[in-house]
Amino acid sequence: MNQKTLTTSLKELFSHIRSRRKIQLIFLSLLMIASGSLEILSIASIVPFVRLVTELNFIKETYFVSRFIEIKDKQEAVIILGLIFSSLYLLNSLVRVFLIYCTAWISKMTTAELSINIYKSILYSSYSNHILKNSNSIISDITTRVYQIGAMLSSIINFASFTFIFICIIAVLISIDPKVMTISMLFFSLLYLLIVLLSKKKISLSSRIINQEQNNIVKSLQNGLGAIRDIILDKTQEYYIRVFEKSSFQKSRKEAILEVIQNSPRYILEGMGIFFFVLLLIYWSQTKTSDQFLLIFPTLAALAVGAQRILPMMNSLYSNFIIIKQYYYQLNEVVDKLNKYSEFIKEKYNITEKNISFKNLITFKDVSFSYDNKVKIFENINLKIKKGSKVGIIGKTGEGKSTFLDLLMGLLEPSDGKIIIDDMELTKETLNDWQAKISHVPQNIFLSDGSFLENIAFGKDVKNVDYKEIISAAKKSQIHDFIDGSTDGYNSNVGERGTKLSGGQIQRIGLARALYKKSKIIIFDEATNSLDNETEKLVMNELNNLDKELTLIIVAHRLNTLKDCDLILKIDDKKIVQSEII
Ligand SMILES: Nc1ncnc2c1ncn2[C@@H]1O[C@H](COP(=O)(O)OP(=O)(O)OP(=O)(O)O)[C@@H](O)[C@H]1O
Ligand SMILES: [Mg+2]
Repeated sequence: MNQKTLTTSLKELFSHIRSRRKIQLIFLSLLMIASGSLEILSIASIVPFVRLVTELNFIKETYFVSRFIEIKDKQEAVIILGLIFSSLYLLNSLVRVFLIYCTAWISKMTTAELSINIYKSILYSSYSNHILKNSNSIISDITTRVYQIGAMLSSIINFASFTFIFICIIAVLISIDPKVMTISMLFFSLLYLLIVLLSKKKISLSSRIINQEQNNIVKSLQNGLGAIRDIILDKTQEYYIRVFEKSSFQKSRKEAILEVIQNSPRYILEGMGIFFFVLLLIYWSQTKTSDQFLLIFPTLAALAVGAQRILPMMNSLYSNFIIIKQYYYQLNEVVDKLNKYSEFIKEKYNITEKNISFKNLITFKDVSFSYDNKVKIFENINLKIKKGSKVGIIGKTGEGKSTFLDLLMGLLEPSDGKIIIDDMELTKETLNDWQAKISHVPQNIFLSDGSFLENIAFGKDVKNVDYKEIISAAKKSQIHDFIDGSTDGYNSNVGERGTKLSGGQIQRIGLARALYKKSKIIIFDEATNSLDNETEKLVMNELNNLDKELTLIIVAHRLNTLKDCDLILKIDDKKIVQSEII
């Protein structure tokens, strides 16, 4: 991963987020300025107020108030100044609450927007992009990483607003008592700086490990759940738990370290603060008379209030800094991915789509293909498939049958050569229209957790479903009787991922789905291998009775399945040859 600066990463991040958020950020900055100014005013007003309460003839000298308001006696002055002082504080508290609200809102909304954008870009990206990626990293992105980025955004906003408010408070405190404030500020700043320097390396190392283990945790979860049947059978639970345990503990250990680094300086600093304050009191009580002491009492009050505001803020600054540093890797990783996806999608938008007509022939011309530019799966294949024909594809396992179908569907691009439909080449421009003509019944059919109806009319709005067509498709797939016999008929739930159904039932639903789509070409990738001979024969008979214009491409291991095909293609050693059915 390339190392970007935080500002570059943030700039890139915001290019993937709606501009409304940027406007909200500007509003937030205004709010910060308001809060900072209120902070200045409220602390500055302590001095005259306290002085007024402790002294008698002060009011004439109070440039702060007497300039604006005409005050008759001390009593009135105390009331007026007291009210101003306390309402400034109240107002400031309200602004601060509002600031918290806005910060939380912006960062959470950004989080949601980011995870939606990642999901969107994944679903829209190309198939070849997908098979190169591991899904656990994507799941980590959407489930955890974006939330960490959200937390980081909160921290960045907090960091910025606290810095601003902090500077305001310091400025006013310094103007009240330059010497004491400068010394104490220097002291505390150096202390924090020391802590930051000492912990910097540890933070960055720990966060890198947390980011790594995050992926490993999702990976072992996926592995464990995916293989649950075998795990129970082979009693390999302990092995899977150990792998998970290792990552979990490692991640938690590092998180604990970070939490300690993040939270402990606060107590040290607060202790130091009190210590410093008492030292100051001792010094003053030794060097000043009680009259003089009364004189500096207002300053002391201002310092105390200032410290009460500054110390927690200093700690917030520090812990926000840690969070920013901690999630820096996560931010970079997500931004890199979003950039890549958006480039891909931009490229896609720039394509002017063309329609492609399919009336006669699909032609493969000198097509070669390799997944990794090293091992060739196909080498110079030439073949023609007529419209309306039924083509069987055979070949040993791993020879490339599914790959051939992916090429035909335009999911994979030939490394060399062309695929021509009638007389138009299959290109990025014509791809969408070509894919719209095809239905694919895969080896593993995905059923959503919905009704039979939803699963047959897959991806379409159930409200616009044509019941007659659904039933007809189900009948041709030999699944109608089964569905009809279920408690709620077509509205019965299929169970999560079809766990309540047998392999053959799932395949027949997949078939019904493809038939309902009424595509011009239907591709079966071993889609009938879970059916018994009798049912398969019935299904194949139905397929043969379908529209004569329909092109069927069937991959099957049982040669019997293919006996009615017009053409049998055999994949053998990177070539495709026409074969006779024996
Ligand atoms: N994403 C991928 N990256 C690299 N190699 C791959 C990928 N997918 C498949 N292959 C390789 O390509 C070859 C052909 O795979 P394919 O899935 O097309 O075989 P198949 O004939 O459909 O096998 P089966 O009958 O078992 O379904 C195999 O050797 C496989 O290892
Ligand atoms: Mg296959």
